[in-house]
Amino acid sequence: MKIIKVKDYNELSDLTSKIIIKEIAKKSNLVISLPTGKSPLGTYKNLIKEYKKGKVDFSRIKTFNLDEYYPVKKNDIKSYRYYMFNNLFNKINIKKENIHLLDGTTKSPIKECKYYEEKIRKNPIDLQILGIGVNGHIGFNEPGSEKNSKTRLVNLAPETVKRNKYLGKALTMGIYTILKSKKIILLASGKEKAVAVKDLILGDVDKNLPASFLRESKNITLIIDKQAASLL
Ligand code: PGA
Repeated sequence: MKIIKVKDYNELSDLTSKIIIKEIAKKSNLVISLPTGKSPLGTYKNLIKEYKKGKVDFSRIKTFNLDEYYPVKKNDIKSYRYYMFNNLFNKINIKKENIHLLDGTTKSPIKECKYYEEKIRKNPIDLQILGIGVNGHIGFNEPGSEKNSKTRLVNLAPETVKRNKYLGKALTMGIYTILKSKKIILLASGKEKAVAVKDLILGDVDKNLPASFLRESKNITLIIDKQAASLL
């Protein structure tokens, strides 16, 4: 596991957006898996800025999103679909047909998750960007998730329900699915992530801290700021 320590959230966002732009420059049809939440917002802002300056072309990339609430209406402002279009997709030249999101309106979550896995199998993820939950979750792989888990419907952990103010369930890419990505970048910023980061780096690989499974992957880079690294 490679660890890059940066000063703060701005530096973390700068570095992450630069990495993404560099990867797209190397491979114009890059397949990227994207998270939601606070961690990637600065990165998305930078990507939009650089796109406007003509420094990056998203017309051939494909994206998969990590997770989605369930059930959730397409235009619900809580939905991750809304977040992605509002914070990134509507502001860059990505093609609609290259955007893959888990469907929070599906009547058949099992079918939807199988279909998503199949699409990822056909379009292997080159670059996976992840945040980490205060409880060590990645995507909505909450504590207790198995290393061999695939995309599925899950219950949210009580602390996630409280933090995200969402009472339902979620669809999430599984840990196995995430680990198959060629490159993984995990972002952690702020004091509230310090315990999870400490456990991730210094603790055991344990399903009670799902992010710890990433330690077994050679291609993981952890980008953490000073506050997130404060307990190391
Ligand atoms: P955050 O969420 O980026 O909003 O901190 C990360 C997560 O809970 O996975």
